[in-house]
Amino acid sequence: MATPRLLWMGVVLLGILGVLQTQAQAAVSVQPDFQQDKFLGRWFSAGLASNSSWFREKKAALSMCKSVVAPTADGGLNLTSTFLRKNQCEIRTMLLQPAGPPGAYSYQSPHWGSTYYVSVVETDYTEYALLHSEGSKSPGQDFRMATLYTRTQTPRAELKEKFTTFCKAQGFTEDTIVFLPQTDKCMTEPE
Ligand SMILES: *[C@@H]1O[C@H](CO)[C@@H](O)[C@H](O)[C@H]1NC(C)=O
Ligand SMILES: *[C@@H]1O[C@H](CO)[C@@H](O)[C@H](O)[C@H]1NC(C)=O
Repeated sequence: MATPRLLWMGVVLLGILGVLQTQAQAAVSVQPDFQQDKFLGRWFSAGLASNSSWFREKKAALSMCKSVVAPTADGGLNLTSTFLRKNQCEIRTMLLQPAGPPGAYSYQSPHWGSTYYVSVVETDYTEYALLHSEGSKSPGQDFRMATLYTRTQTPRAELKEKFTTFCKAQGFTEDTIVFLPQTDKCMTEPE
């Protein structure tokens, strides 16, 4: 069962962050020569994959969320996401701190004290980004996640294929990959 807190957390992580890195992989792969300033601005979470149990339960109910990425004073990112939950627009902010090479970040959950690792694995900045995240909700509950971010709410079919290929390469099975339906709600208010 996903608690409400766990659910929004998951939605935010999935929506904002994306891809999760497996422990088995030697190093987090990031976009070569990552340019953070070009990554800023608005993104939509068009696709998700996760091996967490709440995601398996809730994936059918999720819709696209809007994330606005802004720089923070410490060189990290302020990821503020707006999404629909129980017919209300919810806004959540996650502050990502630089962790390692440009494009790699960590996030400390204020609620659980757990740490998440997020990396921008691939992006062209103008159309899409593939993110990879991993973390633990509590000891022994590690999970991984992949996210497709797109600049518009209507990603091209090629981008969906690219995301599916990416997810499979990361070990996600077909049934854990979802493309989120577009929604008008919560997408249009001022940023
Ligand atoms: C993060 O961005 C949101 C939305 O612009 C803003 O309200 C919030 O104050 C920012 N937080 C920090 C710590 O920069
Ligand atoms: C998700 O994958 C990670 C890394 O492979 C694993 O440690 C974790 O136990 C998995 N979580 C679930 C809920 O299956």
